[in-house]
Amino acid sequence: MDYQAIISQFEKLYKKEPKLFRAPGRINLIGEHTDYNNGFVLPAAIDREIVYAIAPNQSDICRVYAMDLGEEDEIYLNSLKESEKRWNNYLIGVIAVLADKGLKVSGFDCVFAGSIPIGGGLSSSAALECGLGVALNELYGLGLNKRDIAFTAQKAEHEFAGVKCGIMDQFSSMFGELGKVFRLDCQTLDIQYFPFKQEGLKILLCDTGVTHSLASSEYNKRRHECEAGVEVIKKAGYSDVKTLRDVSLEVIAEFESKMDSVVYYRCSYVVEENNRVLEACKMLEAGDMEAFGKLMYQSHEGLSKKYEVSCKELDFLVEYTLDKDNILGSRMMGGGFGGCTINIVKEEGLDEYVEKISEAYKAEIGIPLKTFITDIVDGAGIVD
Ligand code: GLA
Repeated sequence: MDYQAIISQFEKLYKKEPKLFRAPGRINLIGEHTDYNNGFVLPAAIDREIVYAIAPNQSDICRVYAMDLGEEDEIYLNSLKESEKRWNNYLIGVIAVLADKGLKVSGFDCVFAGSIPIGGGLSSSAALECGLGVALNELYGLGLNKRDIAFTAQKAEHEFAGVKCGIMDQFSSMFGELGKVFRLDCQTLDIQYFPFKQEGLKILLCDTGVTHSLASSEYNKRRHECEAGVEVIKKAGYSDVKTLRDVSLEVIAEFESKMDSVVYYRCSYVVEENNRVLEACKMLEAGDMEAFGKLMYQSHEGLSKKYEVSCKELDFLVEYTLDKDNILGSRMMGGGFGGCTINIVKEEGLDEYVEKISEAYKAEIGIPLKTFITDIVDGAGIVD
């Protein structure tokens, strides 16, 4: 990111010096649609981020400028209401959630810009919310810790973007560490970091370039299907089961014919995926990336066939890798219905491989494939 360009834009608009804050997007190696089921995920913060240049302006109005879009908007702190500018609702959401907690901010001026592809499933919205949370916490001495900021951002997403997301994206943006992935236990919120430095391997993201409109409605529907499954399990005598996290492979197998079949598939995917995350961490510690990659393929299979959140573009990109020796693992990442696949690839021959998959994607789907290698970086904070 060109920090200087953001500062210059701010100085040009507001004739003063800003402070700079950044919040990254995320990848998730494995553990998809498990976070809102109190399960496990294995994400990391990446070198794609949102950057805010910001300073108080001694009024009760915030002037905000989205540099990538060249659009301006205002936020009236005394009468917070939704804006016609979609991007601004994420900011308004954060301010409203803080106000609800009795944490008042005064007016500020800000310019923000980002390098996270929108709709790519890399959590640009969580980064937008966490970045503002971090900035306001610092500017107004709100006394929030990383967890508080993550939950504030999640609530803004629930209430202002209408997606009942889990906590993975916000925790990734806040708790990421350079060169490490982390296993987040979404029940206890315990974090365990694992170094992710694999000789000769890279993380390649392939962006389908599509976001199907089903994404948010189907997401919320999956949540309900999982909850419905939990109710059936509880009623059958497992009264201490609170979420799918408490359900073992053996127990879920008992319900194959005792549950609506769609609900059963959803639940059995989640229970299996939780187990895969635990297994994947062992493989990571043992440095067995071949085995790790196999788990990623199993994850995709489950997401596509049992959880049904994939789409033809994602499936094509994963299937394409199946007979390629230089790809260890591949799967759809994030909520689904578009966005990116995440791939563990050998560095050797990478350029030719990217050329080939791009050609194949264009021929099959008819639109260009965007690809990028990603590095793992630190979570959100002030930029010195
Ligand atoms: C989206 C949500 C996350 C998580 C993933 C699926 O990214 O924001 O909370 O549920 O989908 O794993």
